Amino acid sequence: MNRFLDLADFSREEVLDLISLAQHLEKHPEPQALAGKILGLVFFNPSLRTLSSFQVGMMRLGGSSFVITPGQGTWQLETRTGAVMNGGAAEHVREGLPVLASYADALGIRAFAEGKDLQYDLAETAFKAMASVVDKPLINLESAVNHPCQALADWKTLEDRHVPQRAKFVLSWANHPRVTPLAVPAATVHMAAQRGMEVVVLRPEGYALPPEIMDKARAAAATSGGSVTETTDRATAMQGAHILYAKEWGSTAHYGDAAADAALRANLSDWCVRESWFDTAAADCKFMHCLPVRRNVAVADDILDGPRSIVLQEAYNRLPAQMAVLHRLLSTGVSQR
Ligand code: CP
Repeated sequence: MNRFLDLADFSREEVLDLISLAQHLEKHPEPQALAGKILGLVFFNPSLRTLSSFQVGMMRLGGSSFVITPGQGTWQLETRTGAVMNGGAAEHVREGLPVLASYADALGIRAFAEGKDLQYDLAETAFKAMASVVDKPLINLESAVNHPCQALADWKTLEDRHVPQRAKFVLSWANHPRVTPLAVPAATVHMAAQRGMEVVVLRPEGYALPPEIMDKARAAAATSGGSVTETTDRATAMQGAHILYAKEWGSTAHYGDAAADAALRANLSDWCVRESWFDTAAADCKFMHCLPVRRNVAVADDILDGPRSIVLQEAYNRLPAQMAVLHRLLSTGVSQR
């Protein structure tokens, strides 16, 4: 394995093998596996979990890491191809990233969507341009429409909890005061479909996931034996659900138009997950969210603090899941499992 950019690059069996390695590393630590290896982490956007879990993962495997947050103690980096650099950015990623890669054994890059042009973001234009100048193993720490590390950790969480392969998985839009990216919903719907689940995307009018994202998930479902449907009707979606995964995302009907999106969501404050959402769900239906989450806007306190929530297990699983990725990318030895 040389790159970890998209779960779709791997077969279902290959993903399960990565999860098996993650579970093995939890029980049988390998504190020297990556001795002498260095991971460079480039964060164009903020993070709590991704940043800390990658640094800790490298340390637990015997390696080390450095973090670059462009424009904060380092030169601001230009990402646009062909830009006339007479603004704030002193350096282009076409020089900056190869320099950083030359110091490290692998790089991770977080670069969210620009949020202006849907087709530009769906094509991962900015991330692909950056990836093209990195000649070392590369990890997607969240790009315009993907978050494979979160998806891998969430899949591991489902395996750890023995959630049946064919269980009903509802991915629901949730309220948020601002426009947020498509990366997690896109990665999540694909993950659940690739796992072979009965996936339902629940969202209000104006927030349909783009056809490119739905088609990709449906293609994964066709291979795994799962299914992917969508609805605006909460009761229909939640009927018999085993998992409710909530996520906020921006309106695709008004992509790049924050004012129109704000006007649309002004009437959507009831899209805050509450216990009443689970009335028709399976009795032990669990609640998932990738975090960070806005309490009592996206999800009510009693859900996050109650027995349905497995959000902290998801967040913890970022660590062993990513350790498995790092092991595959950087270890010269074979795990003793
Ligand atoms: N879920 C997730 O990626 O969290 P961070 O943005 O804090 O890294």
